[in-house]
Amino acid sequence: MNRRRKIYEGKAKILYEGPEPGTLVQHFKDDATAFNKQKHAQIEGKGVLNNRISEFIFQNLNAIGVPTHFIRRLNMREQLIREVEIIPLEVVVRNVAAGSLSKRLGMEEGVQLPRSIIEFYYKNDELGDPMVSEEHITAFGWASPQEIDDMMSLALRVNDFLVGLFLGVGIRLVDFKIELGRLYEGDMMRIVLADEISPDSCRLWDMKSGEKLDKDRFRRDMGGLVEAYQEVARRLGIMTGGE
Ligand code: C5P
Repeated sequence: MNRRRKIYEGKAKILYEGPEPGTLVQHFKDDATAFNKQKHAQIEGKGVLNNRISEFIFQNLNAIGVPTHFIRRLNMREQLIREVEIIPLEVVVRNVAAGSLSKRLGMEEGVQLPRSIIEFYYKNDELGDPMVSEEHITAFGWASPQEIDDMMSLALRVNDFLVGLFLGVGIRLVDFKIELGRLYEGDMMRIVLADEISPDSCRLWDMKSGEKLDKDRFRRDMGGLVEAYQEVARRLGIMTGGE
């Protein structure tokens, strides 16, 4: 894979030039980072699990008509994706109070929110991805008002799907982060889901025990991250024992 031209290297993934124009190869690394890279570790097997879990979720979203960049998985660590222009925003959907919302508003973790809440964060490592409002987004030209509407409706469709998917396997979807991109096809442009959806980008709690099955195990030094991700994969019916 290193023969391919590297386009971009992020904290947990690398993007390579794809086999055809308009495509890229998304490679999942084993690196785990938190608190804007202040904490960093290699966790063997994480990339393979996230590749499989994200493939499963994106395939299912494609099947119900949610547009995504995902084409197909290539191997244990890589998937073929469509090249999109990433919108420089992280879109967080929350169903239950946790993490930075609990901290910011002094709300106990685990409290069900009155409705799903969408938040936007400006993607900028140097600034630590600050939360921004729709006013900032339109004033600084990161996205148009129409694109904000499209991002919000996509985020809510993804949330509806994921809440149901995880509920069916005894997991509470607390919150998650998505990234969106502009896909250009001829004169047409549409907003599609990009990046990944995995236990790195979601909070997933076992419904009965409350056990955390997500990246908070790393952020909070709880250990057992790979075992937790394997449990998520197992419950979703994804085999990860080899090709
Ligand atoms: O930290 P916070 O509570 O704002 O995170 C909300 C959700 O977004 C969590 O599921 C977390 O895993 C995800 N997130 C992410 N990448 C970030 C920030 C948050 O995947 N840079």
